[in-house]
Amino acid sequence: MPTHDTVITKKLSGKKVAQFVYSDLEKRISSLAQNGVIPTLAAVIVGSDPASQVYVRSKMRKFRKLGLNSKTFFLSGKSTSEEIVSEIKGLNNDDRFHGILVQLPLPDGIDSNAVLRSVSVKKDVDGFHPENVGLLSYGNPRFIPCTPKGIFRILQYYGIETMGKHAVVVGRSNIVGRPISAILSAKSRDANATVTICHSKTDDLSSYTQQADILIASAGIPGLINGEMISNGAVVIDVGITRVDDRSDKGYSLVGDVDAHSVDGIAGALTPVPGGVGPMTIAMLVENTVEAAERSILT
Ligand code: GUN
Repeated sequence: MPTHDTVITKKLSGKKVAQFVYSDLEKRISSLAQNGVIPTLAAVIVGSDPASQVYVRSKMRKFRKLGLNSKTFFLSGKSTSEEIVSEIKGLNNDDRFHGILVQLPLPDGIDSNAVLRSVSVKKDVDGFHPENVGLLSYGNPRFIPCTPKGIFRILQYYGIETMGKHAVVVGRSNIVGRPISAILSAKSRDANATVTICHSKTDDLSSYTQQADILIASAGIPGLINGEMISNGAVVIDVGITRVDDRSDKGYSLVGDVDAHSVDGIAGALTPVPGGVGPMTIAMLVENTVEAAERSILT
């Protein structure tokens, strides 16, 4: 077990970085408005997963607050893959929408790959289409998935050095783990990290996490990372937001992958849950939709 000198753990506020992003976007949004364009998002929800409904509702609320448009399409949980693809093809051809988001996870039995492949690459504001995944991996991205893009912006905003540093990513999902690994390992002035990807089958997870200068906890396992698993001064990014039932009025709380109490005084910096990565995912969705709208008037 490593020994630790006490450090002051800095809070990395995603909420604050998101405010900074929105103030920059305001100018771009008003210049689009001068061209008669209001960035507009179509969100597709299949079935009635309560967490998905909450996430999409909070994204839509933010669009409304910023004077942008959005429309949610609720499809039955009994829809077939073909029916979902057909709905998306309709949205691809509908000029009112600049961005299309399909909320994941899709119900069991749905061919998620076929659904994500059917989204127009020019409207794919989540960056989940294989062509956009490939472009990111090439180092020439069109749309970068929102959560990893938001994590990268938090690191940049707080001046956290990545060049030559060891970033350990826990989780290999297409939504977070894989794209953040591509971003941080990119040959670019503000990345250039050495990246290790760990996952549920990694032997002796601690032996990797203890080597991390930057630890990205994105396994979706509440409290997975504790103070004994990190080294003094590590920057810890907590991507987990698992709903755990409790006795509060809401009936649940959102719990991160990091045991915040246990890493306090060891980590050099930590993103809180809530108020860390979550607000940045939404800010990056807005940014990607603004980008899609800007490109729509150029082409
Ligand atoms: N489910 C969990 N995270 C995301 C996300 O960033 N986008 C979509 N579409 N679904 C998600």
